[in-house]
Amino acid sequence: MFRSTRAIGPAGWRTSSLFVATGGALTWYFWREKERMVRVREQKEKERSTIGRPKVGGPFALMDHFGQRRTSDDFKGRHMLVYFGFTMCPDICPEELDKMAQILKSLKEDGIGITPMFITCDPARDTPDKLKDYLAEFHPDILGLTGTYEEIKQVCKSYRVYFSTPPSVKPGQDYLVDHSIFFYLMDPEGNFEDALGRLYTAEQATSRIKDFIQAYQQKS
Ligand code: NI
Repeated sequence: MFRSTRAIGPAGWRTSSLFVATGGALTWYFWREKERMVRVREQKEKERSTIGRPKVGGPFALMDHFGQRRTSDDFKGRHMLVYFGFTMCPDICPEELDKMAQILKSLKEDGIGITPMFITCDPARDTPDKLKDYLAEFHPDILGLTGTYEEIKQVCKSYRVYFSTPPSVKPGQDYLVDHSIFFYLMDPEGNFEDALGRLYTAEQATSRIKDFIQAYQQKS
């Protein structure tokens, strides 16, 4: 480190280039600060306008169960119903996915389109193929999404989903994943609308989702 600094060149050149670099860095720093303040102000205004509405969800980049990279932008234009879980889940996820299948069936009967997603909290074991086989047992429309541990951690964080997957797992090691249990209803722009917990029956969840979708359609 020190040797390479000493090797740069004559003292004069070094001083002036340091001066230029410092000036440039300061300009850059103030410009950055100004930009940052503008962004902070915009963010605060945005938060004020959506007061009472928790900030849930956000952009993501994951891999679907066909092995295709997908981003949240791919799903804009339609409501999304997002569930987080894992395929090795012994009881809760299968129950919730059965419920999701019933919801989708009812919505389809009423001609309401929605994009249902299952995002795994267990990316180490839930490969695209595994998700594909697993979800086909419940409903053909449910799209499975997986990713690296970091990508999953990020999307869970933005949805405020708690999960306890160990970051590094030895092959064959058995473990359970504790995770939050909600269906997240997102509007066609990707904004959070509602979180439906386990207490909702399929019928109750369906009618609530319909209310949100109708309200959205009337608004736009
Ligand atoms: Ni589960």
